[in-house]
Amino acid sequence: MKLLVTGGLGFIGSNFILKLLKESDDFEVINVDAELFGSDHKNLNEIKNSEKYHFEKGNISNKKFMEEQITKCDAVINFAAESFVDRSINDANPFLVSNIRGAFTILDITTKQKKRMIQISTDEVFGSLSNGTATEEYKFNPSSPYAATKAAAELLINSYFTTFNSDVVITRCTNNYGPRQFAEKLIPKTIILAYNNKKIPIYGNGKNVRDWIYVEDHCDAVLSTLDHGKSGESYNVSANNEIDNITIVRKILEIMNKPDDLIEFVEDRPGHDLRYSLDSTKISDQLEWKVKSSFEEGLEKTVQWYLDNPELLNNISSAILDSTPWKNTN
Ligand SMILES: NC(=O)c1ccc[n+]([C@@H]2O[C@H](COP(=O)([O-])OP(=O)(O)OC[C@H]3O[C@@H](n4cnc5c(N)ncnc54)[C@H](O)[C@@H]3O)[C@@H](O)[C@H]2O)c1
Repeated sequence: MKLLVTGGLGFIGSNFILKLLKESDDFEVINVDAELFGSDHKNLNEIKNSEKYHFEKGNISNKKFMEEQITKCDAVINFAAESFVDRSINDANPFLVSNIRGAFTILDITTKQKKRMIQISTDEVFGSLSNGTATEEYKFNPSSPYAATKAAAELLINSYFTTFNSDVVITRCTNNYGPRQFAEKLIPKTIILAYNNKKIPIYGNGKNVRDWIYVEDHCDAVLSTLDHGKSGESYNVSANNEIDNITIVRKILEIMNKPDDLIEFVEDRPGHDLRYSLDSTKISDQLEWKVKSSFEEGLEKTVQWYLDNPELLNNISSAILDSTPWKNTN
């Protein structure tokens, strides 16, 4: 099978491509990436010379380019997105281009070419849950411009399924962690700052809860929806692992043998959701997907991966490691 993976130079896309090509001979991959935030060719060093891997630089919102690429493939998995809530507060425009226009461009072409599209969405479309857990039927209530663009893409996809019977499946995952995540996100940022004995900023009181999943478990879920997901359906993907930010940062400091007094509480970002929670009974029951990594194991592996890649621990720009990036104006 020839797969078009978009955003494959980023965190989850690169882990997905590596898993696919290392664990199976059945796939050939074209990776389309515009080399924007979060992208790094070094993420795919291990397979960059493989005959089964091809890279095409380009933007998923470019219709002509995407028509050419999709024509060569059997199915598309759309990981490409602007993915950082803080940057969507500074300037939402690139999020509209990648996350709505880009997803729509793929949807329209795959529909016309009668090919399967898997859209990688997020638990953030449901907004903050004070209690309970969201099933696939939960109402959309996105709080950030980022989450709103991901919800908009889902609505377009649902409309295409209803109108054109498009072969589309949506996966909606909780917060991922693991190797190859860009330095701007909580876990890599904490590891990098702790390694350099610098203050680690935590928004508000650190009690915001996220539901954490090891990236390889998410990749397994995406693969199971590609193979067995039902057209027009969405599947929530969670490891039932709700942890608040302050606990995560303390765990990382403990693994790295660093003192708690590196922690510094800073001004919270506006619209910061307090809690996300997803019920993933549907994908477990219907597609027999299950979580393999425990949080403790996964977090230790993640810290070790960064320590084994010292070029990622040094020379990170101060804008990326800023304590309140949502305030940055450039
Ligand atoms: N990271 C998480 O915790 C998480 C959780 C749930 C869902 N998701 C979703 O998973 C997907 C991947 O997230 P990630 O954390 O790997 O993101 P990332 O920021 O690490 O990588 C995104 C990649 O997409 C590329 N890209 C962005 N816009 C593009 C465009 N218009 N054309 C071509 N390439 C483009 C970037 O260059 C980058 O390589 C996103 O769709 C995101 O919404 C992420």
